[in-house]
Amino acid sequence: MKQQINRRQFLGATAIAGAGVSVSLARAAQAQSPGAPAPATGADDKPALLGGPPVRSRPAHRWPVFDEREDQAMLETIHSGKWFRGSGKNVVAFEQTWSRATGAKYCTATNSGTSALFASLAAVGVAAGDEVIVAPYTFIATVNVILLHHALPIFVDTDPETMQIDAGKIEAAITDRTSAIIPVHLGGSPANLDAILAVANKHKLAVVEDACQAHLAEWRGRKVGTWGDTGCFSFQASKNLNCGDGGAVLTNSDEWADKVYSFHNNCRARQGSGNAFGSKSSRGGNFRMTEFQAAILLAQLTRLEAQTQTRHQNAEYLRSLLKDIPGILPSRMYDGCTRNAYHLVMYRYQKEHFAGMPRKRFLEALKAEGVDCNPGYGRLNQQPFIKNSLASRSWQRLFPAETLAGWAERTACPVNDQLSEEAAWFTQTTLLGPRSDMDEIAGAIRKLQRHAGDLAKA
Ligand SMILES: Cc1ncc(COP(=O)(O)O)c(C=O)c1O
Repeated sequence: MKQQINRRQFLGATAIAGAGVSVSLARAAQAQSPGAPAPATGADDKPALLGGPPVRSRPAHRWPVFDEREDQAMLETIHSGKWFRGSGKNVVAFEQTWSRATGAKYCTATNSGTSALFASLAAVGVAAGDEVIVAPYTFIATVNVILLHHALPIFVDTDPETMQIDAGKIEAAITDRTSAIIPVHLGGSPANLDAILAVANKHKLAVVEDACQAHLAEWRGRKVGTWGDTGCFSFQASKNLNCGDGGAVLTNSDEWADKVYSFHNNCRARQGSGNAFGSKSSRGGNFRMTEFQAAILLAQLTRLEAQTQTRHQNAEYLRSLLKDIPGILPSRMYDGCTRNAYHLVMYRYQKEHFAGMPRKRFLEALKAEGVDCNPGYGRLNQQPFIKNSLASRSWQRLFPAETLAGWAERTACPVNDQLSEEAAWFTQTTLLGPRSDMDEIAGAIRKLQRHAGDLAKA
């Protein structure tokens, strides 16, 4: 049923696209030599924002992807009457499947990626009054979990070429209060794990990998999320593996596995780890995944590897096209990256190559061409919620006045500030369509570049 609707939508959209024959011809010519700038085709080449025809008229790839597998899994779960992990089998089955898929010894499913990070920091012993080193170019949750433990986030600037934490700057940020590092594998591209693990080992710091965007990504042939003390995943709706909301913690350590489990399940002990209630955790809450979330994940997992391969092929092709456009700088990967999960295709937009057209205008013009592109994250290290925490009674009690007074200067990230003005991303759903979609995206950017002067002044 759902597939029929899709086919109808697709045929309808194709018919609309077919109406603009000359546009299609110009596009076809461009697709034949996708690396070369497309020839201007008179009125058809006018940017859509200025009244011309858009490069793309087909709808974006459907997301989430689902079929009768999800229908059946949900119905079975409903009718089983076992909706809670303590009585059902889905959550445990998902934990076993995700452990196998990643090569981790243990997996604990949680109700979100935020909960996975929160439980991990508790397990590795991050405590009130600690400092935790973190990337500024990330989703807000990576920092919230530090504040939830009444610890101080210490931002280390971003490597502009990869958009990941600049690992070479971590050591200088360590003090005797530092207890952990949270590297984020942003966009599915691994952070520099060799350098991060080396500095963590040298200073005996815990490493909690934020792999919330990096499902099945690999560093030197081994899955990310299995390198640090723990590795955290999100299954929130936008993620490459999606159940609406959900998360997981991977670890190879018996001790961290027990502690994460206890923390996420109100201090109950993990099965097989001894039955003493609360034996492994000093604190805990309810961060459990439900049987419904796990049922969806088990169905979604049947497609993940194939989708990951499609994203990879399309992303590599798109990057090869983008890198030839002056002023579009796709982010680089570290040498140890053997698989990028491509949650995002990230690049820097340099307006000087587009007649000074601001990024906001460029993205509006791209949207008008039928290409969605996101401006990315802002200056997380300067957001008021952190300053509010630092000004509150708890932080005032926990940290010396001079630490708090010097925090803003110490955690200034000028490279990240600049990146926040220049970055842009295509999200993973863009990568699930045919290869010709990538030609259209690059073609749309080239078209904007040809008309940058008009767009910039209009
Ligand atoms: C990098 C990163 N960290 C943490 C999270 C938090 O995950 P969730 O939204 O599942 O709580 C997300 C997801 O949005 C994320 O992208």
